Amino acid sequence: MTDALPLVCMRGVKKHYPVGSTVVKALDDVSLDIRAGEFVAIVGPSGSGKSTLMHLLGFLDSPTGGEIHFDGEPVAQIGANRRAMIRAEKIGFVFQSFNLLPRLSVLRNVLVPVSYIRRRVERAEERALAALDRVGLRDRAHHLPNQLSGGQRQRVAIARSLINEPRLVLADEPTGNLDSRTAESILTLFEELNAQGRTIVLVTHDPNVAAHARRRVRVHDGKIVSDS
Ligand SMILES: Nc1ncnc2c1ncn2[C@@H]1O[C@H](COP(=O)(O)OP(=O)(O)OP(=O)(O)O)[C@@H](O)[C@H]1O
Ligand SMILES: [Mg+2]
Repeated sequence: MTDALPLVCMRGVKKHYPVGSTVVKALDDVSLDIRAGEFVAIVGPSGSGKSTLMHLLGFLDSPTGGEIHFDGEPVAQIGANRRAMIRAEKIGFVFQSFNLLPRLSVLRNVLVPVSYIRRRVERAEERALAALDRVGLRDRAHHLPNQLSGGQRQRVAIARSLINEPRLVLADEPTGNLDSRTAESILTLFEELNAQGRTIVLVTHDPNVAAHARRRVRVHDGKIVSDS
């Protein structure tokens, strides 16, 4: 099931960083459509531009060239406040570095995105516990992040990304620190979310992980080199 209009549309997108007298082309002339309901893996070697692409897809960062439309709207023309609101309501992020808040319990970390949205959220705490249950960490709800292993922190980040029931989930190496069995269960979770109609974009350099996606976009030196 896909809508006529892509959920995210990128045209000629560039992200160039001036470094000294040279320019690092983290992304160079990337055009990509992500349709609602897709499950896409972004693959490519270290430094190829995957995280940069993910940050632009979630408009956490602005391109230095080209155009990005989200849900039909040109992102560059959406004001910062509304952009933050759309992001909080419609997009769930799993960052490569997790970005958990060290002084908050696991449960409070999972609840952080709830505080960014305007609409009233019913039974937020119950939902956070259910999300922790899905990633196998309900019994760690009252622990602090530094009391958890890397893989457990990663799973907290995944629970947090799902708390607002986002339309789009952007996950950067979400299974990078997990053993193969836990990784499989997380990928099954993403497959279930996708089957429920959520759009999933997953960044990975692991071919076994990419095999779970229905479409693979390969990035190399800031350019898309294949899309199948
Ligand atoms: N702020 C910055 N200033 C200069 N160059 C940057 C900056 N951020 C990223 N880059 C460069 O952009 C390129 C793409 O980086 P990016 O983080 O998107 O790679 P990646 O594909 O996610 O790699 P990895 O698999 O190691 O996470 C790299 O060469 C990186 O050094
Ligand atoms: Mg990266």
